[in-house]
Amino acid sequence: MSKLQVLDHPLIQHKLSLIRDEKTGSKEFRELVEEVAMLMAYEVTRDFPLQEIEVKTPVAIAKSKVLAGRKVGLVPILRAGLGMVDGMLRLIPAAKVGHVGLYRDPKTLLPVEYYCKLPSDIAERDLIVIDPMLATGGSASAAIMFLKDRGAKNIKLMCLIAAPEGILAVQTAHSDVDIFVAAVDECLNDHGYIIPGLGDAGDRLFGTK
Ligand code: PRP
Ligand code: URA
Repeated sequence: MSKLQVLDHPLIQHKLSLIRDEKTGSKEFRELVEEVAMLMAYEVTRDFPLQEIEVKTPVAIAKSKVLAGRKVGLVPILRAGLGMVDGMLRLIPAAKVGHVGLYRDPKTLLPVEYYCKLPSDIAERDLIVIDPMLATGGSASAAIMFLKDRGAKNIKLMCLIAAPEGILAVQTAHSDVDIFVAAVDECLNDHGYIIPGLGDAGDRLFGTK
């Protein structure tokens, strides 16, 4: 079974409360989502290997550490996942970004693919699939499947808020994919929305309704 990690850092939890608030407008919502994504990236990359190098300081030679040439790919699920990309790129600027376009059919709640553009070398990259919401888990499971079909081997999933149903769905379909979230909420309502959640992440990010 894949690991589930809830990132309970006080800054993440504080900002998440502001994100949830219905009074938070699109501009502030976007900024907060970006900031939380950056803070989460710090934890999601904790297992990246280091290698030792020597650095000449102004006074001596220091044995120091740098990242061991890991190639990273970020894969936002369109469209709400876009809101998390810039925050992550601030910490991992060399990452390539692939896009998977999926929307949930409002009646069936099943994901419908409309776009897919990925770096050509995804098989060699550590991929982080990003989406603010993990509700039924249909979109994340489908996105991960697209990546695996195209050769991806090393995949993590990072979301702001997850429902227990979505976590179970992804863990069942993809037991090799570790999941990182800022919160696990109570349940889904009849329309597949996370309760209490934050509403429609895409609409709140982009001011649509
Ligand atoms: C939202 C969200 C996820 C999906 C989660 O996207 O950003 O991609 O729903 O639901 P699921 O776990 O039940 O699949 P939506 O389909 O609303 O599209 P959008 O990002 O374009 O608004
Ligand atoms: N998508 C969202 O944007 N919000 C939810 O609560 C569920 C799916």
